[in-house]
Amino acid sequence: MKILSIETSCDDTCISILEMSARGGKVLANNSNSQIQVHIPFGGVYPVLAKREHAKNLPVVLDASLMQAKLHKKVPTSKGVGIPTASVGEKSPVDAIAVTYGPGLEMCLWEGITFAKDLAKKWNVPIIPVNHMEGHVLSVFGKDKGKFKVPKIATPVLSLLVSGGHTQLVLVKKDKTYEIIGETVDDAVGEAFDKVARMLDLPYPGGPQISKLAEEKRKRAAQKNLLPISLPRPMLHSKNFNFSFSGLKTAVLYLVRDLDGIEKIDDKIKAQIALEFENAAIECLVYKTKKAIEKYGAKTLIVAGGVAANQHLKNEVKKAVGKKVKILFPPKGLAGDNSLMIGIAGYLTIKATGNLKLR
Ligand code: KG4
Ligand code: ZN
Repeated sequence: MKILSIETSCDDTCISILEMSARGGKVLANNSNSQIQVHIPFGGVYPVLAKREHAKNLPVVLDASLMQAKLHKKVPTSKGVGIPTASVGEKSPVDAIAVTYGPGLEMCLWEGITFAKDLAKKWNVPIIPVNHMEGHVLSVFGKDKGKFKVPKIATPVLSLLVSGGHTQLVLVKKDKTYEIIGETVDDAVGEAFDKVARMLDLPYPGGPQISKLAEEKRKRAAQKNLLPISLPRPMLHSKNFNFSFSGLKTAVLYLVRDLDGIEKIDDKIKAQIALEFENAAIECLVYKTKKAIEKYGAKTLIVAGGVAANQHLKNEVKKAVGKKVKILFPPKGLAGDNSLMIGIAGYLTIKATGNLKLR
């Protein structure tokens, strides 16, 4: 069966088409339109603009995906060249449409949902609503092209979900029920990365920028530090699995202020701050994850969401978690928001409910 999936929860307009069978799937198309350039002047996602961009980009990305999947209807033109057209009122090119319903920016989500509903009506196919965070968890099984498998994994499964909006530890038990065993009490870790990047005058989106600066500084470990910089690890030893990143972010704000503002901070000190911030944030994530694995006897660890692209997080998780636990990260290109993960989640919903026959 073919599933078309749509993701518009934040600032990426994404549409994929997957050909799924009972054993796994094949990527027929995977396209997205990033709005980064539109939001750079605002230093973050500007929701009204994001909604407008989704409305403009959805038909374009749909066309590109139908073309890539070779599912477009070609019509003869006066020039004799085939021009693609959406398959309106024709036999549907897909069997179902999966769409992100939340969590995310409400006006952005509605653009995707309304677009999906219109298509579903036109093509007379069912709509499968997908939770964005569930999508992130399942991103670890995807591939951005070619064939992929959705294997059975050993339970209990612990998921560390780290994005711009969420920081959660979710436990999937043997009976497939799940429980959020810990989460941030204030800022999400990606949000803290983005806000600290802004304080350091780095462009949006800040996470990869901080990470790049920190990684370069880490490689020059032998180089003498110009200042002794030490940031807090909030809630590191709290007796639960919650996180807090707001105090860490504020500590950077005070540090920058005490150094007489970002204009007075040279690039070497900036890199030192980025490194100490990244070390502190990742230490909090990894410490609690390790504790949770031990407490619940998790057999599999999934690390997903935009921040899962962070190389230091990957290295530290691998170091801290023993070889007995299988660790799964999203493949390159699937850590951040994408529609492929939404397609996989839609497929598993269909499989679980048996609503559509898998061919
Ligand atoms: O999952 P995602 O694409 O969107 C949300 O659902 O929020 O995550 C985006 C977040 C942003 O905060 C971005 O700065 C962060 O992921 N991010 C990173 C890295 N790449 C993306 N944070 C730290 N290191 C990275 N390499
Ligand atoms: Zn996300």
